[in-house]
Amino acid sequence: MFIFKRFFVKHRVNSWGYNSIVMPILDAHMLEFFSRSPEQTRRIGMRLGSFLKTGDVICLQGNLGSGKTTLTQGLAQGWGALDAVSSPTFILVNMYRRADGGQLFHLDAYRLESVPEAEQLDLDSMLAEGALIIEWPERLGNLIPDENLWIILDHIADEHRQMNFRATGNRYDGLLDSIRQSMFGGG
Ligand SMILES: Nc1ncnc2c1ncn2[C@@H]1O[C@H](COP(=O)(O)OP(=O)(O)O)[C@@H](O)[C@H]1O
Ligand SMILES: [Mg+2]
Repeated sequence: MFIFKRFFVKHRVNSWGYNSIVMPILDAHMLEFFSRSPEQTRRIGMRLGSFLKTGDVICLQGNLGSGKTTLTQGLAQGWGALDAVSSPTFILVNMYRRADGGQLFHLDAYRLESVPEAEQLDLDSMLAEGALIIEWPERLGNLIPDENLWIILDHIADEHRQMNFRATGNRYDGLLDSIRQSMFGGG
């Protein structure tokens, strides 16, 4: 069954400065954001990052320049990373640390040549140690765990990006609920 309800929350100003976001709620498994600047994209990432736990899989799909790495900067900051995020284009996986010893993995599959090469990436080991953010997840095919938060980023105009979050699995539905509650309050 496909539930198609749209509630628009327009120009809602709160302490986080999300005043220009229009956020239609498509269904319980989805959230949609519009960003008007890299800083706003980072703030959205920070919000999600603050809820990330070991074993979480966040997939970022979108063309070059759509904002995947920018969103990851916010994710890592919100999660509490001690190091700054850079694009792991050449070494494929970056690992960030938190003061409590927590780890966050950032994989960029853009340069993966083949599925066999992808199979050498031990996603399970990473997920046992921390959360995992994946740019170009579609290049990993069915190596991606079935349950995940899949984010599609689209370049709309110069500084305008759209981000669609889709949760698969209870853990990720819960993550979306946490974001909704922290941004808009209430239940
Ligand atoms: N609203 C926005 N959100 C994210 N990035 C934006 C936005 N507006 C402009 N940009 C710019 O677009 C580029 C996005 O690059 P990046 O995050 O590396 O994309 P990707 O990792 O998807 O290739 C950056 O130069 C960033 O400053
Ligand atoms: Mg990138």
